[in-house]
Amino acid sequence: MSTTSQPADAGRVTVIVLAAGGGTRMKSKTMKVLHPISGRSMIGHVLDAVAALEPHRVVAVVGNQREQVGPHILGLLPGAVLAVQESQDGTGHAVRIAWESLDPADRTGTVLVAYGDTPLLEGESLRDFAADHVAAGRGVSILSGVVAQPHGYGRVLRDAAGEVTGIVEQKDATPEQAAVSEINSGILAFDAAFLDSALPRLTNDNANGEYYLTDTVRLAREDGLAVGAYPIADVLQTEGANDRVQLAALAREKNRRILDRWMRDGVTIIDPQTTWIDVDVRLERDVTILPGTQLLGVTVVAEDAVVGPDCTLKDVEVGAGAHVVRTHGELAVIGAGADVGPFTYLRPGTELGAGGKIGGFVETKNARIGDGAKVPHLSYVGDAEIGEGTNIGAGTVFANYDGVAKHRTVVGRHARTASNNTFVAPVHIGDGAGTGAGSVIREDVPPGALAVSAGPQRNIEGWVARRRSGTAQAEAAAAADRSSDEPDTPPQE
Ligand code: UD1
Ligand code: CA
Repeated sequence: MSTTSQPADAGRVTVIVLAAGGGTRMKSKTMKVLHPISGRSMIGHVLDAVAALEPHRVVAVVGNQREQVGPHILGLLPGAVLAVQESQDGTGHAVRIAWESLDPADRTGTVLVAYGDTPLLEGESLRDFAADHVAAGRGVSILSGVVAQPHGYGRVLRDAAGEVTGIVEQKDATPEQAAVSEINSGILAFDAAFLDSALPRLTNDNANGEYYLTDTVRLAREDGLAVGAYPIADVLQTEGANDRVQLAALAREKNRRILDRWMRDGVTIIDPQTTWIDVDVRLERDVTILPGTQLLGVTVVAEDAVVGPDCTLKDVEVGAGAHVVRTHGELAVIGAGADVGPFTYLRPGTELGAGGKIGGFVETKNARIGDGAKVPHLSYVGDAEIGEGTNIGAGTVFANYDGVAKHRTVVGRHARTASNNTFVAPVHIGDGAGTGAGSVIREDVPPGALAVSAGPQRNIEGWVARRRSGTAQAEAAAAADRSSDEPDTPPQE
């Protein structure tokens, strides 16, 4: 092994993600970096981008509400190292704590520092930045950006020749420095040996009384090391959300980018303004998304399917060519060519077969509905299995709950059940069986049988006149009675 093999070493990347800040402007019991955008926490987006660097180690600096943030980070990245910063004494202090948490043997190569609240960050940008840093052989590199409103950011200072000389924070800037529009995004890359030597040299002798990581730029210059800034054209990638107004703005922008990608991949989105698609959703070509639709979680939509208008689908699988209209669905599977909606509620465990139908005002839960089977109108289907080709009549309730436990109803293949039935589980309706309208099915129905539970109809003449006299109902009944007593009007000559 060579001792000072810079290039081989420099390729090894350690990432430090700063997430100790309080995020007080969110005014939330949820820590800032845990607020979600496009179905993933802000820090989840950052960790995803960071993965593109194939880092040797990822250290996350946590402080405020670390009992929330720590487990979340470890859930996403079990190999992450958590470093605890008890008091937020500045970015330099935070990185020092991260650095000290690393095994000394790991303090080599390239170190990239990022923040946990930049949800638009892309792995490719980090890769380009790190590659530029390594190729230029710098002690420290700044991922910078040119912005119209630099107020609040650290400004990148350059000399007459354009060489970077340092970063000055807003509060420490002269009016002349404050006029600079090139800002420090906060993402910095370091040579590990330089960072190791620089961290103990940082002081808090500034307007904020904090240890500034940005002072490393000046120190590197003093050490005679190369420093430089790599401007990112797409500055939104490094923008953080400090309050809920910025959170909403970044969420909309993230969503816009996700939709653009899908449209470029062959998905038709009629109204991008009212369509929201989470980052882990997968869509095939020639899918059409109609207005007012949210595709969330790990929803997958296969080719030629049409979803919307006004659907919210979370962790739903939509088969090729299916149509889903005004539907709220979660953890459900919709088969190829199937029809769902409008005004349909698919609860977890719903599986609709190919060519099947779940129609208007139908709620389903834990229900396997076979190929070509239909539950077209006004029904509740819970804990059920419905065989292929079966049709369930309008207004059927699968009474799955006896007040203590849930039970299952099985309806066989090609059965025809009539309107306004109640199936009292556990009950089994056989293949090719039928039921009469208004039946309450409590006993199993054998294959091919017709089950009729409603008794024969009895009309009790004159009941309303006797029991409801003086009411509008009785008046109407009496009027009908009189008109039927009158002789037929003779035909007019
Ligand atoms: C920092 C930079 C500034 C840059 C800006 C970009 C410094 C001194 N300044 O300023 O040049 O333009 O970011 O947004 O680095 N954090 C900790 N522990 C701390 C302090 C901060 O973990 O003790 C974390 C925060 O949670 C946050 C990030 O570091 O994620 C940046 O901290 P913040 O206080 O927002 O830095 P700025 O003053 O905005
Ligand atoms: Ca900030």
